[in-house]
Amino acid sequence: MSEHEIPLSRPDLSSVEEELVVRVLRSGRLSLGPMQEEFEQAVTKRAGRRHGVAVSNGTCGLHLALLALGVGPGDEVITTPFSFIASSNVILHVGATPVFVDICPRTLNLDPTRLDAAITPRTKAMLAVECFGNPAYMEQYEAFAARHEIPLIEDCCEALGCSLRQRPCGGFGRVGVFGFYPNKQATTGEGGVIVTDDDALADHCRALRNQGRAPGAASAGGASTGSWLSHPYLGYNYRLSELQAAVGAAQMRRFDEIVQRRQHVARLYVERLRGHPEIIVPTVDEETTQSWFLFVVRLSTRFGAEERDRIIRGMRTHDIGCAPYFPCIHLQPPYRRLGKGPGSFPIAESVSGRTIALPFFGRLSGREVDLVAQTLELMIQRESFSRRDG
Ligand SMILES: Cc1ncc(COP(=O)(O)O)c(C=O)c1O
Repeated sequence: MSEHEIPLSRPDLSSVEEELVVRVLRSGRLSLGPMQEEFEQAVTKRAGRRHGVAVSNGTCGLHLALLALGVGPGDEVITTPFSFIASSNVILHVGATPVFVDICPRTLNLDPTRLDAAITPRTKAMLAVECFGNPAYMEQYEAFAARHEIPLIEDCCEALGCSLRQRPCGGFGRVGVFGFYPNKQATTGEGGVIVTDDDALADHCRALRNQGRAPGAASAGGASTGSWLSHPYLGYNYRLSELQAAVGAAQMRRFDEIVQRRQHVARLYVERLRGHPEIIVPTVDEETTQSWFLFVVRLSTRFGAEERDRIIRGMRTHDIGCAPYFPCIHLQPPYRRLGKGPGSFPIAESVSGRTIALPFFGRLSGREVDLVAQTLELMIQRESFSRRDG
């Protein structure tokens, strides 16, 4: 990596995060402490929910949500093939089968008109992803899930701070899960939070994240009471450390400021790239607020995956971090056994072959946005010329 590189993403950290981490170190309490409580409460409030359960990462959160809902071997879960792979991996992890449905080419979320055809007697749940934070159709998914009496799991890992008609992401369906990986709007390094209004589900998730201990079990120091060493459930260690929670608590204190910066950079990109005949910039519906996970553009349908990949390589040789978000899940090796080869979900596959995530973080300067845009235009032009000459 050269010193001139513009990276794909960079977390927005400050002296507030440093201060809270140092406070935890000095306190000597490194797990299940007040920072976790503050972090959980802040995320719960953002989602407009009653409960928040902090876990080691978003994948663990989705895993626990499925387990707590009783999804297991023999069950089917309706989901999207166009997402980060973890949203489907968790379905395989509990022994269930993902039933993929193609996406809408404009919003990149599951196409609501295709959902009914995916229902079978084995359908146990729907796991809907807010792709790049877009909450489009969440209300339709809620209605669909209610009609078929199945729980809706909202994978809002990319959607903290986004909303639809004033309803915050994390507030749809039976349970939602946020992710806090470093490229997310807010980060804990690694982390996740499960949010729900369901008291029993929240308690079950709290128990499962903590080795199956009853929620409220005394901490290790209170082992003599016995509760720390009694395990009514078969659980996991999916806890978040206090050090990570301290970073998360600080990020949430600064969240409005972080999001404003991301929104500013997204506006710069949209203004700069809108109107280019070969570039489709992300659409944000009027009723939607975006906090911007990534900034992903799409090439026009005149381009395919090979050309897109050459453009990305060209950008990288100019020290600009870019990535093809997302390869389709059904075409990844662990999913081949489901028998959904190329052509199974044509819209997801076509979109997936043309996306380019551009460098995106709140402290990207206007000059850097301009340099990224110029280089992208140049690479597209070079690709168009080589096609004409070839
Ligand atoms: C849509 C989606 N689901 C699940 C995850 C998994 O979260 P984590 O990486 O925190 O395990 C991520 C991202 O990282 C994601 O983008």
